[in-house]
Amino acid sequence: MPTNSYRLVILPGDGIGLEVMAEVRRITEWFRDKRKLPIELSQRRFGLEAWEADRTLMPDETWQEIQRADAVLFGASGLSEASGIPREERRKGSLLRLRKALDVFANLRPIKANPALLDASSLRREIVEGVDLVFVRELTAGVYFGEPRGVETLADGTRVGLNTHRYTSHEIERVARAAFELARTRRNKVHSVEKGNVMEAGLLWREVVQEVHDRLYRDVELHHMLADNCAMQLIRAPKQFDVIVTDNLFGDILSDCGAMITGSLGMLPSASLSARDDSGRRRALFEPIHGSAPDIAGKGIANPLAAIASFGMCLKETLEQPDEADRLDRAIGSVLTAGLRTADIALGKPSVSTRAMGDAVIAALEKA
Ligand code: IPM
Ligand code: MG
Repeated sequence: MPTNSYRLVILPGDGIGLEVMAEVRRITEWFRDKRKLPIELSQRRFGLEAWEADRTLMPDETWQEIQRADAVLFGASGLSEASGIPREERRKGSLLRLRKALDVFANLRPIKANPALLDASSLRREIVEGVDLVFVRELTAGVYFGEPRGVETLADGTRVGLNTHRYTSHEIERVARAAFELARTRRNKVHSVEKGNVMEAGLLWREVVQEVHDRLYRDVELHHMLADNCAMQLIRAPKQFDVIVTDNLFGDILSDCGAMITGSLGMLPSASLSARDDSGRRRALFEPIHGSAPDIAGKGIANPLAAIASFGMCLKETLEQPDEADRLDRAIGSVLTAGLRTADIALGKPSVSTRAMGDAVIAALEKA
């Protein structure tokens, strides 16, 4: 193994994460063995699987492996109250904690209309055709992490639920820069999305993004948009967008909305990246946008393409092998063009299993 190899750790997580990551594993091995990419691959327990074996959702050994890794390939996370795992344990071993600990603040969620899947969208063909946008969602701050938080009971017995939406100028600046940098590699346009009409934190967001733009990225076209309007525009005219930068909560909501442009949550990958340290190393977490889908877990019918495409983002962002990433994208595209569908995108027509979809992607890679 070359010394400059990349350490990738697979964490299948919960539910369909186990099934889809089995396919990702085979595809990662294909690139390692057939394309001779310098990949050192490991797999560790996280989530329910870890709870059952080790009585913790995040075993120490898993955490150590994550810290050694250049990238985490994550499956899915999702445990219900019904799992019987204490809330405190669930919080300790959560995906959110992992994102925070790795400081992967820039979450890239590309949304690209696939010509073979235009009919799977609930929107009309002419609205969807040609859509190619990326969300840059801030992932490690905002209301997801703000303190104080909790539920308290007032003297008169009224209960109060409290969360804090909080952003520092530093947190806004670094994600804005990530968005502008990305726009320069694309169509050079950024929409910054907030609710500055009602939220002070939204006003600060707008101010900081504008200031970063004026100082460093005058060549990039910048628009400010209110989050509610953005939700509407995504459905009305999604082609107007290139890069959308927004906070953690709006990014969560708007990216699900954007996901339906492509027809299925089962199709969308994501990459979460930290800043580079002094040695140029950047931490990265790659995960499909979909969750653990408990209703279909274990049936072998989940769509593995979002997880596979997330590995494609790893090829590009961590291994810095854009040509290999394109090779994988083309393989996915050709499988879809050939008509292969998992149930979520089959529109009632015959569908194939998770495994068969993985087989088909590998067969397409072999042929190319
Ligand atoms: C996402 C998911 C997560 C989030 C959940 C699973 C905590 O919806 O990645 O979009 O809200 O960030
Ligand atoms: Mg979400």
